[in-house]
Amino acid sequence: KTIDSLGDLAGKRVLVRADLNVPLDGATITDDGRIRASLPTINTLREKGARVIVTAHLGRPKGAPDPKFSLKPAVDRLSELLEAPVAFATDTVGESAKETVENLKDGEVAVLENVRFNAGETSKDQAEREAFAKELAALADAFVSDGFGVVHRKQASVYDVAKLLPAAAGSLVEKEVASLRKVTDEPARPFVVILGGSKVSDKLGVIDNLLGKADRLLIGGGMSYTFQKALGHEVGKSLLEEDQVETVKGYLKRAEESGVEIVLPVDNVVSENFGPDGPADVVPSNEIPAEKEGLDIGPKTRELFASKLGDAGTVFWNGPMGVFEFELYAEGTKAIAEALAQCSGYTVVGGGDSASAIRNLGFDEARYSHISTGGGASLELIEGKELPGIAILEEK
Ligand code: 3PG
Repeated sequence: KTIDSLGDLAGKRVLVRADLNVPLDGATITDDGRIRASLPTINTLREKGARVIVTAHLGRPKGAPDPKFSLKPAVDRLSELLEAPVAFATDTVGESAKETVENLKDGEVAVLENVRFNAGETSKDQAEREAFAKELAALADAFVSDGFGVVHRKQASVYDVAKLLPAAAGSLVEKEVASLRKVTDEPARPFVVILGGSKVSDKLGVIDNLLGKADRLLIGGGMSYTFQKALGHEVGKSLLEEDQVETVKGYLKRAEESGVEIVLPVDNVVSENFGPDGPADVVPSNEIPAEKEGLDIGPKTRELFASKLGDAGTVFWNGPMGVFEFELYAEGTKAIAEALAQCSGYTVVGGGDSASAIRNLGFDEARYSHISTGGGASLELIEGKELPGIAILEEK
């Protein structure tokens, strides 16, 4: 169900679950991609004369107010981008929220303070979640689910509230689901997946599911060292998930049996000092010295990975190739971003970090078919898991 299915919204209070969980350096937003992505739905609702009430989270506060996690910086940025004032309630369902909503006029926007300041939001106890969802629902006449990055969470403002109000998917959720389903349902081949980032254990389900679907799996970043270890290579002080080594061995075997090509780094940029200043050397991936750690893929790997992307019909990329926040270790991630930009196939960048890397390293977003706002959510969709925030809209 889309926003149009909600009928005439003039004068109606519409609660929008957005994902405004942006990276912050102090109070400075370092990537406002998610705020920008929330604009189309908010603007559509304003044009329809709705009174727009945005609810969202920032970080993972512990169910109580914590100024470190205030949505204030995101609200200021939203107001700049909308070129309109945005009212800000200093609580989520309390006096401030009620008063703010009451004062809203048609076409105006308000944001409620971090929804995770309320224990009911993330509670595992369904009754507690539902009680909080009721308070949220009482503020509005209709609900629009537009926080794609959070649709994999069974939380009050994502899931339970959708049961209590006429509900629809916002245009971001619609676009994300359609774009990611192009990857999971009959992808144009060869279908190449690039996985990076630090944790193999976060991506086990994806690897498992992709072994039956992808033609090639390129593994870089922090998780690649666990793969090297599974091949019997020493990885020095590199990131290693020792307890995943056996599972990874199983994946390597299954990949071989099913004809899926797994491509691993052949060289790495390594250092004894984690930090922006190095010194850094390049060594073969099977000869990382005991006192050093791998912090990026090396130049031969950059070429190898790029060569594996040239003929791709579909590419899904999640996770940086190295510590791209330090210039010295950004080359691997840059090389993948460039190779993907040049690829004529359908290219999807999934995940908060990879999407931020694209923007912060200065690549033009228009060179990719789709840049997802979801980290965990896009991975779970690719894994083939049911996403509670989407399932509840389909059920209704
Ligand atoms: C994200 O950053 O992936 C989303 O905003 C969800 O946040 P969470 O992982 O804290 O639920």
